[in-house]
Amino acid sequence: MNYRHAFHAGNFADVLKHLVLAQCLEHLGKKAKPYRVIDTHAGVGVYDLTGDEARRSPEWKEGIGRLLKTTAPAELDDALNPYLDVIRAMNDGDALTAYPGSPEIAARLARQDDRIHLCELHKDDSVTLDRRYARDARVKVQAMDGYRALPGLVPPREKRGLVIIDPPFEHRDEMAFMAQAAKSALERWPTGTFIFWRPLKDLWAQERFDVGLAEWLIADQGLEGEKLLRADMWVRELSEEGPLAGAGVVVVNPPFQLEERLLKLLPWLTDLLAQDDGAGWRLDGCITDDSLMVDEF
Ligand SMILES: C[S@@+](CC[C@H](N)C(=O)[O-])C[C@H]1O[C@@H](n2cnc3c(N)ncnc32)[C@H](O)[C@@H]1O
Repeated sequence: MNYRHAFHAGNFADVLKHLVLAQCLEHLGKKAKPYRVIDTHAGVGVYDLTGDEARRSPEWKEGIGRLLKTTAPAELDDALNPYLDVIRAMNDGDALTAYPGSPEIAARLARQDDRIHLCELHKDDSVTLDRRYARDARVKVQAMDGYRALPGLVPPREKRGLVIIDPPFEHRDEMAFMAQAAKSALERWPTGTFIFWRPLKDLWAQERFDVGLAEWLIADQGLEGEKLLRADMWVRELSEEGPLAGAGVVVVNPPFQLEERLLKLLPWLTDLLAQDDGAGWRLDGCITDDSLMVDEF
């Protein structure tokens, strides 16, 4: 396990993933009943943007750095604020030194009765995570393979909530691991909201994951098509080689309004974060073999 998220924290891929996560949590928080967040690949929770990793690889400057420097149109407030408010609360004034990972976004948006279950396999990272949330009775940290832990964690007692699966994609079969975990967890908890993050690198494997999951959910599990959403963004022309140029999420049981908000947000965000003329985005409410990227633009 060589992957260290500190080299990438706050980059364009984190921005889209965390915007979607914050939207989903904000929606869950609208009902009084408590919810549970299960984060299978949690990382360390908070990233120091002045630290050695971020200095050696300042990807955040082209991600959250650009977003915080701009004034967004007011019509995007609903989509941006749940996420940006978390970041603003962690930083003083205009200086951006701390960036929230998915556990911290959950910890800051969750209420007193909500619960957060974090799995992190990397030994040092799980210790860091455990220390960070030791005094937060809502948070449980498990130093374990998130894929193995997941079947035993769903459905949660609260019967409401969200699973985020955000693996490092170091293994060439990661997409297959994620598909397997997705199916066994969704069979157990078909009404949970699930966020699957995947890179746009091996586009064949990614498309197989998306379409395979959608077909299985709709044909075998009887899920209605509108209970699926995928949102992707690429900041340069996509390529299998070199640094990551695009990424996004597949969301199962997305909150009402997520699609509408992302439809307004994605064109603007892509323009803002574009690094060359090859930048683009797609938003599919229904994932089929026909909804290939080239059709969108
Ligand atoms: C992309 S990072 C997670 C970032 C985090 N979700 C966020 O948004 O802030 C992936 C993390 O998964 C951890 N990891 C790798 N394989 C794992 C596994 N099988 N189970 C749990 N954690 C794993 C890595 O150590 C790394 O910290």
